[in-house]
Amino acid sequence: MNFLWFFDMIDPCLKIGSRSCTDRRDGREGRTMAKSKFSPPLEEVLNLLDEAVIGLGPHGAIVAWNQAAEQFYGLSLTEAMGKPLADTLAVEDCLLTTAQVLQEAERSNRWRGEAVHRVADGRRAWVEWVVKRVQRPEEKAVHFLSFARNISEWKIAEERARQHQQQIIQADKMLALGTLVSGVAHEINNPNNFIMLNTPILQEAWESMRPILDRHAEEEGDFLVGGLDYSEMRDTIPLLFSGVVEGAKRIKRIVGDLKNFARTDASGMDHEVDVNAGVQSALTLVSNLVKKASRNFKVEFADDLPPVRGNTQRLQQVIINLLQNACQALERQDQAIEIRTAFDAKAGEVKIIVRDEGVGIPPEAMPHLFDPFYTTRRERGGTGLGLSVASSIVQEHGGRLEFQSTPKRGTTVTLSLPAKPPAGRG
Ligand SMILES: Nc1ncnc2c1ncn2[C@@H]1O[C@H](COP(=O)(O)OP(=O)(O)OP(=O)(O)O)[C@@H](O)[C@H]1O
Ligand SMILES: [Mg+2]
Repeated sequence: MNFLWFFDMIDPCLKIGSRSCTDRRDGREGRTMAKSKFSPPLEEVLNLLDEAVIGLGPHGAIVAWNQAAEQFYGLSLTEAMGKPLADTLAVEDCLLTTAQVLQEAERSNRWRGEAVHRVADGRRAWVEWVVKRVQRPEEKAVHFLSFARNISEWKIAEERARQHQQQIIQADKMLALGTLVSGVAHEINNPNNFIMLNTPILQEAWESMRPILDRHAEEEGDFLVGGLDYSEMRDTIPLLFSGVVEGAKRIKRIVGDLKNFARTDASGMDHEVDVNAGVQSALTLVSNLVKKASRNFKVEFADDLPPVRGNTQRLQQVIINLLQNACQALERQDQAIEIRTAFDAKAGEVKIIVRDEGVGIPPEAMPHLFDPFYTTRRERGGTGLGLSVASSIVQEHGGRLEFQSTPKRGTTVTLSLPAKPPAGRG
């Protein structure tokens, strides 16, 4: 099947050079049109198009398929021929189903929209999709032409511009938040310092009083302290003190993290990043999510970790994205999440390893993880940008993100970053 008669119906002006076309305009119906000087066969013309063009018969079966369609969809003309479009084309993110698209094109002659088409090698592409109704004047049967133009690059550029815009808004907000947070942090840190400095003194004072009180209790019998028997209170007081110290340390850390996160780091990529501290800050920011997802969460910091060169906030964003994915992959709270840092001295690389015992990733999904918009969680609010943003940040840092996964068992993500060479060696 070729495209000649389709052309015949789309636009009579395009009929030049087609041997099967006749010139109806000058009333000489039935006469073969005079050959123009430039008269390429129409099928060839369609094959020159960058757009994937598909011709459809009255019941939506494929009757024509140009070369761009072969390349784009990874299916040959012979493989596609005669198959229903709805079974051949996997369409996602379209407002209508393929059947509805055809109905709409039939009703209003032309349907136009954007959609994600599954294309060659199982990849996805955003397309501008136009479906036109075509009908021979002498026939009742309605045919269709489907044109798909790959607009993925444009979509990615648009998404980047949107992100950039958001970053600018975010930077503004962060600036305001930064001022506010440093003010509040100062106010919180001051009284918190009293707690941190005074509690150890009270602990010591208690330790020195305890033998005296023990002796008193031995000689005079038990007595009440703060409404409780001394015999009970003597063991409770140290726990109360360590609770106070722990709480104060936590306040200090959270305030520090907030200050770090709110800081607008315009100075870019040339910072010395303490990876353990970065992981710790990221953990503080997602601690609620992690707690909700797993009762089995482990952190392990390597103590021989050299710094890496880069931007702390951007690296924190990567760690947060990986931790969020790990949390979202879990099905039960008893499944584990683990994050640890390590140094591979031979490769000169600092590693951050995030392991989860979640649903895992099927092998066929692996090549698509970094594709912008690839997500299996669209209906739960996933945009599919988490890992693509993470991978671009990792690339900026000259690093790598590697995934190992077994479906139903879990996933291990390894982020490798080049360690910063010691001073004097660049
Ligand atoms: N730890 C993981 N376990 C299982 N699947 C994962 C894991 N990490 C990523 N994936 C898969 O990779 C897809 C893409 O991840 P990505 O972070 O880019 O997007 P998302 O999490 O779906 O959405 P977003 O991050 O924008 O909210 C996920 O939808 C999921 O299918
Ligand atoms: Mg994600």
